[in-house]
Amino acid sequence: MNKQIHFIGGGQMVEAIIRALLNNKLYSSDAISVTDINQERVRYLNETYQIHASQDLQNSLEKAELIIIGVRPQDDLVGVCQSIKAIAPTTVPILSIVAGVTIEQFEAWLNEAYPIIRVIPNTLTDTGFGFSGVALNAKAEIADVESFLTGFGKVKYIEERLIDVFTGYGVAGPNYIYYFIESLADAGVLAGLPRSLAWELALENMVGAVEMLKRTDKHPRQLLDINNSPAGVGINALHELNRSDFAAGLQRSVLKAVQRTTELANE
Ligand SMILES: NC(=O)c1ccc[n+]([C@@H]2O[C@H](COP(=O)([O-])OP(=O)(O)OC[C@H]3O[C@@H](n4cnc5c(N)ncnc54)[C@H](OP(=O)(O)O)[C@@H]3O)[C@@H](O)[C@H]2O)c1
Repeated sequence: MNKQIHFIGGGQMVEAIIRALLNNKLYSSDAISVTDINQERVRYLNETYQIHASQDLQNSLEKAELIIIGVRPQDDLVGVCQSIKAIAPTTVPILSIVAGVTIEQFEAWLNEAYPIIRVIPNTLTDTGFGFSGVALNAKAEIADVESFLTGFGKVKYIEERLIDVFTGYGVAGPNYIYYFIESLADAGVLAGLPRSLAWELALENMVGAVEMLKRTDKHPRQLLDINNSPAGVGINALHELNRSDFAAGLQRSVLKAVQRTTELANE
């Protein structure tokens, strides 16, 4: 039997999590409640998911066995924490998905006696793929949150100091892949293929290449060596890619994403 969970803030990310929890049949809709200050959002969540969405924080917090803070960093987090503190006992785990807000800040606004869990949720929640990054305070235990977190993807428990890197590299990760696939499909079109065929080949090769790496347990360089015959197609293509600064460009892009994550946390 899963815990009664309550979300404060019912925006895009919270909705994606709720949809995955329900689709994966890990939670029933009567185990999920949400409060949002936006009346229209409350109506939409009730109608779409048949959960208990309302604007009444007090009543929902009294029953909650896990509380998820899902508002934006610029929203009234201190007020949200005061409401939690006034109602929820310190045995109830408090999980935050708020980007850039540290466990230390929550401990100061709430009380360090609460189990506090900081999560950077993955954005592939509808697929079962994607790792969320999770850091725990001294009071929190993995068992408090494991079944909730695995309801919308996979989980990596990390030190909090790695959250920004995890965000810029891991959670932003699908963006690099989307852009790579788009660029590759464009290359096929540039070379003369119909777009639909270029697109299909790019997706198939992406999935197949990942499967090859997993099944063979080989380093990419070993698979490249097998494919690249002397003076052949592969090594010529690779030479041109190397001249384009491809690897360093991608790496700079990741470093920039990490840097921006940290900047936003400090704004
Ligand atoms: N979206 C993502 O991909 C993503 C990824 C990782 C982490 N996150 C984190 O998830 C959190 C939510 O992001 P989001 O994109 O889902 O934002 P969002 O769609 O703007 O949702 C925030 C919701 O919270 C409501 N709200 C504001 N203050 C509230 C309060 N005091 N009590 C109850 N509800 C309140 C807002 O209502 P109003 O609009 O009326 O103000 C809005 O409906 C952020 O902290 C973000 O850092 C998001």
